[in-house]
Amino acid sequence: MPAERTLILLKPDCVQRRLMGQVISRLEDKGLNLIAMKMLKVTSALAKEHYAEHVQKPFFPALEKFITASPIVAIVVEGLEAIKVVRDMLGATSGLKAAAGTIRGDYSSSRQMNLVHASDGPEASAREIGLYFKADELHAYVPTLTPWFK
Ligand code: PPS
Repeated sequence: MPAERTLILLKPDCVQRRLMGQVISRLEDKGLNLIAMKMLKVTSALAKEHYAEHVQKPFFPALEKFITASPIVAIVVEGLEAIKVVRDMLGATSGLKAAAGTIRGDYSSSRQMNLVHASDGPEASAREIGLYFKADELHAYVPTLTPWFK
């Protein structure tokens, strides 16, 4: 079974609450490989492109204000069934509904400030990775330096 890639955003609440390390640790502990990462400020144009299917929804202005409020961290992870694995790790969209033990369930008590975005399928993943990263910014995970204890 081939490895999948998925886009993860550590949203402004995750960065401001200093939860980046906790989230990244959970991804790494699960065995996912981080192959790209950058901090950036989402512009209104990027927000509209990223959330194109939600632009007409009543909640979009609040979502746009939130996602553009302060820097985020964009990450690409790779692993077997990575799209579903990451979505399962995040839990339900609302932190109020996400099960205990999931990232949102453990750290978020908000519908909007749900800490982390992750692509919801292969098409979204390819499209969203392309919004945040150029092809040459995606790196192969190759642990060439083992054994690390030497
Ligand atoms: S929908 O309408 O069911 O398709 O929306 P959903 O998939 O649940 O959510 C899509 C993204 O929109 C965000 N969202 C909101 N933000 C602010 N306020 C409200 N009320 C709201 N409702 C949904 C939600 O967090 C999703 O963002 P991501 O980044 O994908 O988690």
